[in-house]
Formats: sequence, structure tokens, C-alpha cells
Amino acid sequence: MDVRVVDDVRALARDAAAMVAGVVAERPDALLLAATGDTPMGCYAELARMRQDRLLDPSRLRVAQLDDYLGLGEDDSRSLYAWMQRALLAPLDIERDRTIRFLSGHADPALACRMYDADIQAAGGVDLAILGLGLNGHLGFNEPPSSADSQTRAVSLAPETLESNASYWRDVAVPERAVTAGMSVILSARRVLLFVSGGRKAAILDRILRSEPDPRLPASHLHRHGDVVVIADRDARPGGALAA
Ligand code: PGA
Repeated sequence: MDVRVVDDVRALARDAAAMVAGVVAERPDALLLAATGDTPMGCYAELARMRQDRLLDPSRLRVAQLDDYLGLGEDDSRSLYAWMQRALLAPLDIERDRTIRFLSGHADPALACRMYDADIQAAGGVDLAILGLGLNGHLGFNEPPSSADSQTRAVSLAPETLESNASYWRDVAVPERAVTAGMSVILSARRVLLFVSGGRKAAILDRILRSEPDPRLPASHLHRHGDVVVIADRDARPGGALAA
């Protein structure tokens, strides 16, 4: 893994957006697998700014959802698709026909997951996966333990995830069930960009960097991928695993 440490969240957002823009310049119709959560928001805002300044042309860009909660109504404020819509799709003017989303309200979640995988395949696969890191080492909602070949599936969220996601939704409970792109989808992306920000992530990042690929630390499977860039800000910089 190529681990880059930058000064702060602003530098992280800038560097990450520059990398996304590089992918889009190479392949204007690239398919991004895009996380929600707090960490990617600066990058998405930077991409919107670059579009305004005509430094990025997302007119053919395609975006797939990484994960979502299960069992929410159409207009539920906790929908992760709605969050992605506000933070990324609307600012970049990416219309519905250039997105791949989970049909998380579908009566048969397993079938909805197969439809999602089929859509990713039909789109030619993921060019760049943009990921945050969970405090328990999860990627998307691939909670520990998750094997490298885990499929897109419905999951129960881990207690740590329920606790950390609670900060997204004031006054409403975090749904306990979710769907996630499987580790197999993430690992088949041509490139992976993992953002890590803040002191509370330093210990888990350190464990991931030191670990062999291990289902108990899903992000450690990234060691088997040939093209992973980790951008961490100084606060998330692990004490021992990195020299810089
Ligand atoms: P965060 O979430 O970006 O809000 O820290 C990351 C995650 O839990 O996957």
C-alpha cells in the first residue's frame, strides 16, 4: 500500500480530489465506488469546486453506492443514497442513469444485492473505490469477520458501527441492518483510495498496516491489492508503522 501522510483534513481533501480528477481525466466515464461518512466529504466538496472552476468534467462520470441501511422508507433522512446525492451526485450533476444504487427497500435484499453486482459487472467494473475506514477495520459495511471473497450482502451492523454512525443522525436511531458491496467488489476495483482522518483512527490504521490479510480486520485485505493509496492526516498517522 502506498501510504501518504498529509498535514490536515484540508490537504487530505485536496490530494484525494486531485487523484479522483486524475482518474476522470484518464477515463471520463470512470465508475467510482463512493463511500459516505464524514471522511470523504471534504474531497467531494473539493471535486464540486474543481467542477465549478472547470478543472474537472464529470459529465460522463458514473458513481456506485458503497453501502446503505436496510428497511428505510423512501424519504427517510438516514438514507445513505440521499446523503451521497446531496454530497456528490447533485454537486457534480450526476443523473440517476449514471448511478448504481442498492434497492435497499426491495422485499428480497439478497436479490437486490445480485442486481447491484450485475449492474457493476455490466458497467465494466469499478475504476476507483473511495473508502473510509471503520474504527473496527471495516470497509463499507463489511464488518469483522469478512473474507476477501465476501459477496455483496445484507449484514447486521457491529456495535462499534452503530455507535459511530449515531453521530450522523441526531435524535434518530441507526438502523441495525444494512447492505454492503462485498469485499470481492471492493478488491476487484482497479484502484483503491482509502482516507483516514483524526486521532481516533490512528490505532486501527496502525493495526491494518501491520496485519497480514485477516478477516478479523477487513481493511487488511487491501494488502493483497496492487494499487491502493492510503491518505492519512497527521492525527491519524500511526505511531510505529510509518516512519514519516
Ligand atoms: P467516517 O466513517 O468517515 O464517518 O469516519 C468511516 C466508516 O465507518 O467506514
